[in-house]
Amino acid sequence: MSGAGPGGTTPPKPPPLLGGNLSPQTPSAPPGPTFAELWRELEPLGRNPDTGGYRRYSWTPADAACRAWFTRQAGQRGLAVETDNNGNLWAWWGPKRPDAIVTGSHLDSVPDGGGFDGALGVVTALAAVDLLQEKSFYAERSVALAAFTEEEGARFGVPCLGSRLLTGAVDPDAARALTDDTGTTLAQAMTAAGHDPGRLGPRDDLLDGIGAFVELHVEQGRALAPMGAAVGLAEGIWPHGRWRFEFGGRADHAGTARLADRRDPMLPYASTALAARHAAAENGAVATFGKVIVEPNGTNAVPSAVRAWLDARAPDEATVEETVTAVRSASESFCEEHGVTLSVRQESFTPLVRFDEALRDRIAATLAAAGFSAPVLPTGAGHDAGVLAACVPTAMLFVRNPTGISHSPAEHADLADCEAGVRALAAVLEDLAG
Ligand code: GLV
Ligand code: MN
Ligand code: MN
Repeated sequence: MSGAGPGGTTPPKPPPLLGGNLSPQTPSAPPGPTFAELWRELEPLGRNPDTGGYRRYSWTPADAACRAWFTRQAGQRGLAVETDNNGNLWAWWGPKRPDAIVTGSHLDSVPDGGGFDGALGVVTALAAVDLLQEKSFYAERSVALAAFTEEEGARFGVPCLGSRLLTGAVDPDAARALTDDTGTTLAQAMTAAGHDPGRLGPRDDLLDGIGAFVELHVEQGRALAPMGAAVGLAEGIWPHGRWRFEFGGRADHAGTARLADRRDPMLPYASTALAARHAAAENGAVATFGKVIVEPNGTNAVPSAVRAWLDARAPDEATVEETVTAVRSASESFCEEHGVTLSVRQESFTPLVRFDEALRDRIAATLAAAGFSAPVLPTGAGHDAGVLAACVPTAMLFVRNPTGISHSPAEHADLADCEAGVRALAAVLEDLAG
């Protein structure tokens, strides 16, 4: 929590995400005021007033509000919206025909995430449709806008859950049994939100109808700013995964239990977090413990258990494995030293992704003709596009992030760059679907 002063004063209202840039377009500005209008409508949904970050977790009221917003916006543009059996939203522009061009991203967020991660790709897709409709573009191929569910895995632990279910990368029974931090299963959460979890599972029929998927996303890192480029293209995604570490100790009194008698799981956990940092630095990887749950979480008690999640990523799979093995074996010896039990379970893994080169070359040529020089970048961030890439030709566009910060309320993109993203995406859709 932040913001409330010691006197309990009301926290300051977070500034609008696009700063003061929302003034009406000047006559010389390119078309596209719809982006700012769309953004303004979506901006308050699921936003935490204390931090300015987003808590748009799947199958919650915030998620429902985002879905309703998307459905309304798509409907206003004459698109037919459907929710698939896995909870992903699809908005079809024109009749559904084979070889469709799909664009979109996700509307869920990490805890206190930024407003752009995922949402930018969805808002941009709607605004790109506006641009194309304004010029009476006739789509030869069907166009669909997609918003995938639980991309961040913030509630049920498995990232890109909606696209993994769609492609068959996750077993539906295992998905139904996933739990959130309160013990609610995905099946229960979907049922409570009015969706039938019994229908979860792969949809080859849907995938077979997709000719290409293009996801636009805010840049997560700071490569485009020094290159002076508003828009970039993805080369691929680093392999990455999540591992759950469970440290089991014995609860005791913080004042009376002698240090020598304790079996305190916090201590091997703390050493393991440092070991992860060392292993990552040594291997050219990144490794993060970003989520920790302590039982029973009392100030004056030695904890009984610590659950912590390791997120590890590297340019190649062998390095991820080497890093995780090093962390795990260091953790085993810390646990032994403190009389603490350890169990480690992999909760998700995404192999190295290389996006379709022919599609990327075609998009680069389209962007060049539209006046964009789009550098090609690798990324350590996961995306639904990375999951779909196993089944359909897939590409990603990035919009410049001037600070590089992401998964944080400080995540930002300038309005002019977002609008450049709209024009770039519209040009790509026009080329691919025209
Ligand atoms: C999603 O943004 C991820 O990279 O974990
Ligand atoms: Mn994210
Ligand atoms: Mn994202």
